[in-house]
Amino acid sequence: MIIAYTVKEVREQVKAWRKEGLTVGLVPTMGYLHEGHASLMRKAVEQNDRVVTSVFLNPTQFGPTEDLESYPRDFDQDCRLCESIGVSMVFHPEPEEMYAPDFCTWVNMDVLTGTLCGKSRPTHFRGVCTVVSKLFNIVTPDRAYFGQKDAQQLAVIRRMVRDLNMDIEIVGCPIVREADGLAKSSRNTYLNKEERKAALILSQSIALGQQMVQDGEKSAAAVKAAMTEKINSEPLARIDYVEIVDGLSMQPVETIKEPTLAAIAVYIGKTRLIDNFII
Ligand code: PAJ
Repeated sequence: MIIAYTVKEVREQVKAWRKEGLTVGLVPTMGYLHEGHASLMRKAVEQNDRVVTSVFLNPTQFGPTEDLESYPRDFDQDCRLCESIGVSMVFHPEPEEMYAPDFCTWVNMDVLTGTLCGKSRPTHFRGVCTVVSKLFNIVTPDRAYFGQKDAQQLAVIRRMVRDLNMDIEIVGCPIVREADGLAKSSRNTYLNKEERKAALILSQSIALGQQMVQDGEKSAAAVKAAMTEKINSEPLARIDYVEIVDGLSMQPVETIKEPTLAAIAVYIGKTRLIDNFII
């Protein structure tokens, strides 16, 4: 497995693969990889001749008061996981390699980024769209893999690719959960024992909402109220948002019909966790 630190190394390697007529898949990550990331990489290995995983803790998608400094890292362990899955190359640039000191070009999106996580993290998706565009330009993949765990991010990337005519197939992958239901996340490592237990309230409220919809509930307000009440029953939980939105535009809906996204963000202590289900 190749470990590349510079844009030039990636470009040269991808060019060589292309000369051989090989297809290339890209899995963008911020590292501290777990089974959720692994599921994306496995699918990419299945569907492409060569797979590049980027491990880049992207500073531009963190707000000034967010957890960039404390975000967990373990690059050696990440490489071992990538290699065991059959990834061909890990791209691990320094921030200086990705952002020139006078960097001033951004990819900005309206509408979809004004709700849910975009509301509480106003510069987040500008950072995500910009870094993902850069990674697409550097790797020029045939396909790129994103998790449904970050449902708004997946919708935003799909829209960006459509709106900017990027010739890349976006492959969405289902949420991978712990045995007890908690969605896998690099941020779960922040939780102490008591908080880890309390964090189950996220997947429990998702399961409750999903059951209501399955039983025929069409009112977004009713589902939202029940999910909110469930989360509020956990003393360590503080709601950032509970929203039911159109699956494409990310705008709130009154009536549940396909495709609808039910998404939540909840603080457990100081840790902000997200979960969702799609109808
Ligand atoms: P990161 O949080 O490292 O996630 C990388 C990819 O793994 C994302 O597409 C995310 O949705 C997916 N993922 C994380 N947990 C998952 C789970 N439990 N089940 C399924 N997929 C999961 O998302 C980012 O990094 C960044 O914003 C990035 C796209 C790399 C841009 O910097």
